[in-house]
Amino acid sequence: METLLRYVLLGAAACFVLGLHLMNSPATARKGNLLSAGAMAVAVAATGVLLADRISTTGWVVLLTAGAFGSTLGLYAARTVRMTAIPQLVSMFNAVGGGAAALIAVTEFLRHTTEIEVSLPGALDILIGAVTFSGSLVAAGKLQGVVPSRPLVFPGARAVNVLLGLSVAGGVIWLLLAPGNWAALALLAVVALAFGVTMVLPIGGADMPVVISLLNAFTGTAVAMAGFVLGELALITAGALVGASGGILTKLMADAMNRSVVNIIVGGFGTGDHAPVSAGGDAGVRAVTADDVAIQLAYASKVIVVPGYGLAAAQAQHELARLGQLLEGLKIDVSYAIHPVAGRMPGHMDVLLAEANVPYPQLKELEEVNPEFPRADVALVIGANDVTNPAARRPGNAISGMPILDVDKAKSVVVVKRSMGHGYAGIDNELYTNPKTGMLFTDAKKGLTDLIANIRALVA
Ligand code: TAP
Repeated sequence: METLLRYVLLGAAACFVLGLHLMNSPATARKGNLLSAGAMAVAVAATGVLLADRISTTGWVVLLTAGAFGSTLGLYAARTVRMTAIPQLVSMFNAVGGGAAALIAVTEFLRHTTEIEVSLPGALDILIGAVTFSGSLVAAGKLQGVVPSRPLVFPGARAVNVLLGLSVAGGVIWLLLAPGNWAALALLAVVALAFGVTMVLPIGGADMPVVISLLNAFTGTAVAMAGFVLGELALITAGALVGASGGILTKLMADAMNRSVVNIIVGGFGTGDHAPVSAGGDAGVRAVTADDVAIQLAYASKVIVVPGYGLAAAQAQHELARLGQLLEGLKIDVSYAIHPVAGRMPGHMDVLLAEANVPYPQLKELEEVNPEFPRADVALVIGANDVTNPAARRPGNAISGMPILDVDKAKSVVVVKRSMGHGYAGIDNELYTNPKTGMLFTDAKKGLTDLIANIRALVA
């Protein structure tokens, strides 16, 4: 029976890998999510059966009550969260994951006071888990606006961080020498919690998502360490996968925003909260009406849509999908240019457009779509700003070096947004003063609804 259950756990681990692979494409991502979640449910059940004779009746009551409470809360949070609040939710999930992993090591240390084998993974589990717990709570607070979102740097912060780093190392060594020592455990846990807070406080602006992704990688690593402590293969595999994929995602996001992970963590660098780069204010901006744009679109043969954060904020994805269908019905070639950091979370635009059933083949990534802009009659920018800003091509500003969508190379450009307001990086967009650009100043949902009505009237 035990061998069979071990095979079941191995099968679940294989499903985690397959699930992750399926998340490579928006077309299969849902299946990947379901497969991984299903495999996790099977792994939890199999572990319960494996350990059944070591769990007391009270233990079962606690386990089942906590499981039911946690699952209900998780399901409720996931179902009711606003799309724009997903980063905070992910951060809270990281916090509970890291905290739970750290608590596993704490209890194991207290149970096996003299057993050396729990020591190193256990100490690392407490360290990484506690840093993740407090760091993720601060990150969620910043994103929710409970903690000021700007980088918070206090005098002597670096010295405090060095001191905390040394204390953490001291705590780990002490715990290795004296496993089960309460004082060593408490020192490591408290210092690691403080380190998590001081690590995240000086980070702000556009760097926050990178930090959340990094904390996600930390959660996975802490869980893998907890797996070593308990000798649980499924936990090690799941933790290692989360740690590795979180690490890769962190690097990809940092690259896409032209930030260095090390500099983000050292703090106070590249926060995106820089002084605005002047593009000459509103002078030279050409405002257009929905009528003008409808004519432009109806007579185009190729349109590239560039969605951004404003589309998500306006919840206008269904209107956009309807406009796309309408244009296609007029035999116009429509595609959607997806920048890796458009919106506020990885895959934000893919998720939005998938929700509105935009066909996946029409979604094109940056490298694929950029060569197509010179052939586009209209680049229709909906609530995107930074990811289209040509200022990124020259040095000396907050987005220098960030790869952008070459919208300004299209034959004409229409930008739908409410005002000349900045994007996340807080700088002027030179695209708006380009003579090719027409600005349709309105909310994305209203603008798209008007465009659909005007085009329909035009072709009726
Ligand atoms: P942003 O540069 O943030 O610009 C969004 C624009 O949407 C704003 O300029 C705003 O202008 C407009 N907007 C807001 N609400 C709107 C509405 N209801 N209707 C129409 N327009 C609306 O967006 P982006 O181009 O998607 O770039 C993303 C930025 O976020 C990048 O700087 C990126 O580095 C950063 N970032 C990305 C991520 C990830 S992982 N995706 C995570 C964190 C940060 P108005 O106010 O004038 O309307």
